[in-house]
Amino acid sequence: MMREFEGKDGVMMIGGKSAVEIAEEFGTPVYVTDEQRLRDNYRRIYGAFSRYMDTKIHYACKANTNLAILKVLEQEGSGIDAVSIGEVKSCLKVGYTPDRIMYTGVNVSDAELKAVSDLGVMINLDSVSEMERLADIAPGSDVSFRVTPGVGSGHSAKVITGSKGAKFGIPLDEVINTYARAKDLGFNIKGIHAHIGSGGQVVEPFMDMMEVLIELVNEIKAIGIDLEFIDMGGGIGVPYKPQEEEMEVGELAMNITDMIQEETDIKTLILEPGRYIVCDTTVLLTRVNDVKDAGTKKYVGCDAGFNTLIRPAMYDSYHYVALANKFGRACTDKYDVVGPICESGDYLAHDRVLPDPREGDIVAVYNAGAYGFSMSSNYNSRPLCAEVLVNDGKAELIREAETEEEQWRHQIIPERLLR
Ligand code: LLP
Repeated sequence: MMREFEGKDGVMMIGGKSAVEIAEEFGTPVYVTDEQRLRDNYRRIYGAFSRYMDTKIHYACKANTNLAILKVLEQEGSGIDAVSIGEVKSCLKVGYTPDRIMYTGVNVSDAELKAVSDLGVMINLDSVSEMERLADIAPGSDVSFRVTPGVGSGHSAKVITGSKGAKFGIPLDEVINTYARAKDLGFNIKGIHAHIGSGGQVVEPFMDMMEVLIELVNEIKAIGIDLEFIDMGGGIGVPYKPQEEEMEVGELAMNITDMIQEETDIKTLILEPGRYIVCDTTVLLTRVNDVKDAGTKKYVGCDAGFNTLIRPAMYDSYHYVALANKFGRACTDKYDVVGPICESGDYLAHDRVLPDPREGDIVAVYNAGAYGFSMSSNYNSRPLCAEVLVNDGKAELIREAETEEEQWRHQIIPERLLR
């Protein structure tokens, strides 16, 4: 089931603190993260797999790169799946050692390969081209390969990554030759990786992918390369709708680890959950500026739009919404919850029943912790918003809202235009 929140005197509570007070104190829009939930989610996913075999969680930090959130997970003992040099450096900055980070890029430049490798971070290679280039840049280094398993899964076609012909990974029929070539080049080959896609809600595709990986592991062994780990990528979905079922993570863990232990000599399983760890830790609070009856539709116009949370506009993603200051009250009518961006595609939620929304109310958008802030933008010259961490009834700022001035910081008007 989707995560629910407590209400106190008609007000939504998060991490023991009133959502309305947070909105008053820090302004809106604001992303509010519950630290305890973050720790619990990490422990739940780690515990589910590590009871069966040696497991490493590499948090896919693309989901949420706030430094405070990275730091909490660092304290929990997490590793990192990083996709860019920027993510690598953010994680190093908060105390992850390079050996806890794995870099899985796509269409990576030589400069970035060198920079990542110079920092001592292991590279998970996405293509033959990348391998050949790394052989010149960092000969003999530790590597693994991302393969295209021919199995895809995800909440939207835009985030399915594992199907045959995908942009990502070594095509199946080239995998053995690529491992053989890597051996000839003198790489220290550690493992194999696949990622089927993001937001899948069923166990089967993960099992199908694992079958493919296991077969490859044994074929690779037959050419004299013993791998240490299988990395099954991320992609475990979470419920976004009130009655939606959760994926059976316990069952997934048991089945996956069973297969690996029965059919291979692999010692370590790596997982790269992003959404599972951060999604339901966070709500986006946004203030109602305007309420409009447009005849065929009623609109609740908020101060957050797709500049702040792009998932509905980009993937037609469903995010549950509630009025934080009228929490649990009977709903009156159906509304579209929309933002301040000058496009009709700018919306947060379609056709939701809400309790008499009025100007000044606070809308809480649920499940905003994964790919929420990290995908936000300055479109319409709106500053990036603040982020707050709540723990034990106390709220702390973990990112200041940007100012308008900051948006001009890197822009240059050529002198001649000012003459
Ligand atoms: N590992 C790799 C190699 C990935 O590419 C990704 C996500 C993950 C792990 C983590 O996947 P997760 O556990 O979070 O599903 N912006 C989209 C999701 C894009 C996911 C990209 N790759 C969204 O808002 O739904």
